[in-house]
Amino acid sequence: MGDRELDNFLEYLKQNRGCDLTLYKHSTLQRRLGVRMHQIGISSYGSYLDYLKHHPDELACLLDTIFINFTGFFRDFDAWEYLANEIIPKIISRKKPHEPIRIWSASCASGEEAYTLALLFVEALGIEQYLQQVQIYATDVDEAALKQARQQRYTNSEVAGVPPALLSKYFEPTPQGYVFNPTLRRRVIFARHNLLEDAPISKLDLLVCRNTLMYFKHEAQVKILIRFHFALNNLGFIFLGKAETLVSRSLLFVPASIKHRIFSKGAKLESNDVLMLSNKNSPANKSTLLDAKNIWQSAFKTSPIAQLIIEPKGRLIGANESAKTLLNLSTNDLGQSWQQLPFIAQFGDLNLPLQQTLGDRSQISIKNTQWSTAKGEYKLNVDLTPIFDFKRRFLGISVTFIDVTLLK
Ligand SMILES: C[S@@+](CC[C@H](N)C(=O)[O-])C[C@H]1O[C@@H](n2cnc3c(N)ncnc32)[C@H](O)[C@@H]1O
Repeated sequence: MGDRELDNFLEYLKQNRGCDLTLYKHSTLQRRLGVRMHQIGISSYGSYLDYLKHHPDELACLLDTIFINFTGFFRDFDAWEYLANEIIPKIISRKKPHEPIRIWSASCASGEEAYTLALLFVEALGIEQYLQQVQIYATDVDEAALKQARQQRYTNSEVAGVPPALLSKYFEPTPQGYVFNPTLRRRVIFARHNLLEDAPISKLDLLVCRNTLMYFKHEAQVKILIRFHFALNNLGFIFLGKAETLVSRSLLFVPASIKHRIFSKGAKLESNDVLMLSNKNSPANKSTLLDAKNIWQSAFKTSPIAQLIIEPKGRLIGANESAKTLLNLSTNDLGQSWQQLPFIAQFGDLNLPLQQTLGDRSQISIKNTQWSTAKGEYKLNVDLTPIFDFKRRFLGISVTFIDVTLLK
């Protein structure tokens, strides 16, 4: 099936069946559609669309094939071991015994991932504290998978990944399969949630979203990661699948273990900011700080002066709205090295000064440089200013572009 045919097919589903698959990668969709069409002996796209129109149940079968529910207890055991040994103790130690620990397994399929989380937390906390503190939200877009998850019953081969000691402690063998402990199950809530459409669960200490983002197009992954960033508490962790690479480049999160794809929201900046505002680390100061930080961020975003922020290794980590418009930047440019930014090739005057400021941290001003966009010709004053924190550590550079076209 060609790209255009696939687009038409997806458009039909979106417009007529309320099912939007346009943000999934074409390569995945083509493979999965091929599997389904082969199963029912249909070889052309046109015939499949006809078939879909005349068989009301077909959409569910198609979605079943597309939402690949492959999962397992302790899938990628090493990563779970790292989580158990290095991350969960940190999460627990930051909480007072009465404070809730909020966890989200986003795309939990048939529940094994959510129950794995329950097992690790009950082992770390003991059953009473687990029941008092832990809340696990487990969501997926696929109702059929959720139905299986809610039944909490697994076959011999499905529980093969559970360490024997945990299997005998927390599962009951029955003729119908192994049943997960109903008391622990009380702290796991299953619900339908579409990562591409629904608002995230918030105030999270740990967000687990494994082996799912990779099915989505780049722009959808970026959007979801930004939502995840908001959903996490300041010191929260995110645990992704082995094949997920985007987050390492996104600069939204700080790696805790790149190998195991575990990241933290990274509150380093904030604790420095707290020191700047006051020596007292009280909650009141923290909330004042957060307000202040939001104001700074909004001021940066909405400033009429175009501004870029480049980190010490030369990657673009911030561009306000004025800069995006003036320099024709998109969200995809965030995280790119400055040499790769499309506007740099046209902006010859900037190459050497950028190299110099990143190298020796000097302040450089370039006057009356020419810049043309679809809207017209501009004369710009460009200022490159190194940024340091209060301990004089180099944080990066700010590049501002002031429009002086109309000045004499
Ligand atoms: C390969 S499974 C991963 C299951 C589990 N996280 C793991 O790593 O073992 C992918 C899951 O993503 C779910 N999924 C696909 N699209 C989704 C969406 N838009 N929102 C939420 N879940 C989605 C599928 O239904 C499927 O259960």
